[in-house]
Amino acid sequence: MRPQSLPPTFNPSRIEWDLKHSPSHQQYEDFFKEEFRKAPTIPNDFLKPQSLWLEIGAGTGQFFESMARLHPDKNLVALERDRMRGKRLARRTEEAGLKNFLGIRGNAISALIKGVPQNSLERVYILYPCPWPKNSHRKHRWHFHPVMPHLLNALEPGGLIILASDQKFYVEEAHYVWEKQYGLEVLKAGEISAHPLNALELFPGGRTKFERTFLDQGQPCYEVIVKKPVLIDPSIFT
Ligand SMILES: C[S@@+](CC[C@H](N)C(=O)[O-])C[C@H]1O[C@@H](n2cnc3c(N)ncnc32)[C@H](O)[C@@H]1O
Repeated sequence: MRPQSLPPTFNPSRIEWDLKHSPSHQQYEDFFKEEFRKAPTIPNDFLKPQSLWLEIGAGTGQFFESMARLHPDKNLVALERDRMRGKRLARRTEEAGLKNFLGIRGNAISALIKGVPQNSLERVYILYPCPWPKNSHRKHRWHFHPVMPHLLNALEPGGLIILASDQKFYVEEAHYVWEKQYGLEVLKAGEISAHPLNALELFPGGRTKFERTFLDQGQPCYEVIVKKPVLIDPSIFT
């Protein structure tokens, strides 16, 4: 038997079983409908005319503030649900005073279910999400999460998801599910390395707090970058 402390390993047979037997998402979505009152909304002037990039679980938002300065032709919205980090993120927005950067304390799940408009996101960054290593919690991993069809609906055709983690299994699972279940095109997968789409060359010490910590400790980090095809099977949204 594997000791509890070891991280899970990538197991395609289990993933296939999960995908085949995933329960209805209705109950979950009904719960989040109740949460809609508090759902973060993206202001209209962030939706157009500039393309929108979203960061989910942004911590205090340092990475997206820097990216907003580097990309004044894009609008960047960072979401963070933790109370303390979310407050710091909101304060960072005020202090930065940038027209194209907004940090919001709130839950990305209710934001996406409530309706970030269809085809409105050019990029989604998910950097170092909680890996939910316990088997019984695996439905919380982003690629298995009931919110995923909403996220893909909000992504524009050709739009990207950039995911990084220190947990190899997490990135391997996301790669497998996004390619097989959702038909996304995998542009890059494996250990993190500089690439025009991941901005790593601009942040050699790490893009985020978690990434900096892992790199400082010499711990390998992994990533997957996927693209929504122009033609996507509509059944994935049901
Ligand atoms: C491990 S931390 C990584 C923070 C940052 N991305 C970094 O790399 O330093 C994961 C973050 O995701 C946030 N988070 C988890 N689920 C979320 C959700 N549904 N909506 C918004 N933030 C979420 C957590 O509160 C936490 O701050």
